[in-house]
Amino acid sequence: MKTLIRGGTVLTATDTYVADVLVDGESISTIGAHLNPEQADKVVDAAGAYVIPGGIDVHTHLDMPFGGTTTADDFASGTRGAAIGGTTSFVDFAIQGRGQTLQQGLDTWHKKADGKCAVDYAFHLIMTEVNDQNLKDMSSVVDQGVTSFKLFTAYPGVLMSDDPSIFQAMRRAGEIGGLIGIHAENGPAIDVLVREAIARGETAPKYHAITRPSALEGEPTHRMIVLAQLAKVPVYIVHLTCQEALDEVTAARDRGYKVYAETCPQYVVCSTDDIGKPGFEGAKYVCSPPMRDKSNWPHLWRGLRSNDLQVVATDHCSFNMAQKEMGLVGFNKIPNGMPGIENRLHVMWEHGVVKGEISPNRFVEICSTNPASIFGMEKKGRIAVGADADIVVWDPNRKHTISAKTHLMNVDYSAYEGWQVSASPRHVLVRGKQVVADGKYVGQAGDGQFVKRGRV
Ligand code: URP
Ligand code: ZN
Ligand code: ZN
Repeated sequence: MKTLIRGGTVLTATDTYVADVLVDGESISTIGAHLNPEQADKVVDAAGAYVIPGGIDVHTHLDMPFGGTTTADDFASGTRGAAIGGTTSFVDFAIQGRGQTLQQGLDTWHKKADGKCAVDYAFHLIMTEVNDQNLKDMSSVVDQGVTSFKLFTAYPGVLMSDDPSIFQAMRRAGEIGGLIGIHAENGPAIDVLVREAIARGETAPKYHAITRPSALEGEPTHRMIVLAQLAKVPVYIVHLTCQEALDEVTAARDRGYKVYAETCPQYVVCSTDDIGKPGFEGAKYVCSPPMRDKSNWPHLWRGLRSNDLQVVATDHCSFNMAQKEMGLVGFNKIPNGMPGIENRLHVMWEHGVVKGEISPNRFVEICSTNPASIFGMEKKGRIAVGADADIVVWDPNRKHTISAKTHLMNVDYSAYEGWQVSASPRHVLVRGKQVVADGKYVGQAGDGQFVKRGRV
């Protein structure tokens, strides 16, 4: 099957030029001016639109048991949302449950995703126990194309690992060509603040943010960067939210350390004003690290422009309001997480490109090209001959109103309810198969395949 994407402007991380793109099977075969439509079985209209590499969201939690419940989106609903929003690949976090081997954790996530995904998928592996056997097994995980491991300095007793465990996992990952992702918050100190707040009767959602101050993100960011340097492993700080943490990343990168960091749309457009909304409304914005004061936004945008932040991912972790209401008794019982896999490109274009914070090319770089290269997805994140035909016809004039009433995610609220955006996907292809046509989802479960990632 040959598909011609005709009349658009190719927009990549580095270039902007008018060209047609011919897709042959699953990959891009030709890029050129005025390609002959007769050689194609199908023509997709890109006139007036950009032709960009499909979005890659490297931080999602689908079908994940967490906070005493399970996320609202599974691999079917979450990935339909991804597709319609222009994300054609994602990397979800498989979890090694306590007492399980790494392989058992990975097998569980393969079963959850297999045959369900609308777009391509890969996994990171969350390590919850570091012992000799698990350290040894890390290389077999990497051999299976799962080349990044996430460890937590937060959530004591649930997902947190101590420094010796993290340091050993880092050293091993460094030996075998793996990458370490870190959730950097000082969980034990936060727990003290949470206990004290609850004892004072401070139960509203806003106390979630108050008890997780940004200094307690900056401190472990520094500590983890130091450990990673000693361990000789590249480190990737996930969901960075604030100036304190960004300053640590910037300083380390200025010293030439292999340190990467991502932020998320919610941290550049939402704030403590949202988590502080009256009643229980703020629960919609309970995630960790928490909403920060707006004064952090310019720092994060600077980081995104200057490449101190290389990636925007969503940390999509959706819970319905009935699940959030487990925390009516106290903010510490609200399941942590926010939805967003469907709206990452909408929000970053509108608040990044339209508002002049980042260029259109930088938008492509942080939403697609950098995620692909940092996480070893060689055939993705590019409009180039031989690359996977993961392509979005991104229409800068296709207005869209974000709403839980119309989104494809299986969650009953949107953090961006009623927001108008000026651009959205017209068509989306995943490895050559059209899954969105004229803004409508036309794909099916199983269109997405597992992506074996390369070593870093
Ligand atoms: O609140 C969040 N971020 N929930 C998902 C788990 C994590 O820490 O990434
Ligand atoms: Zn995290
Ligand atoms: Zn997460």
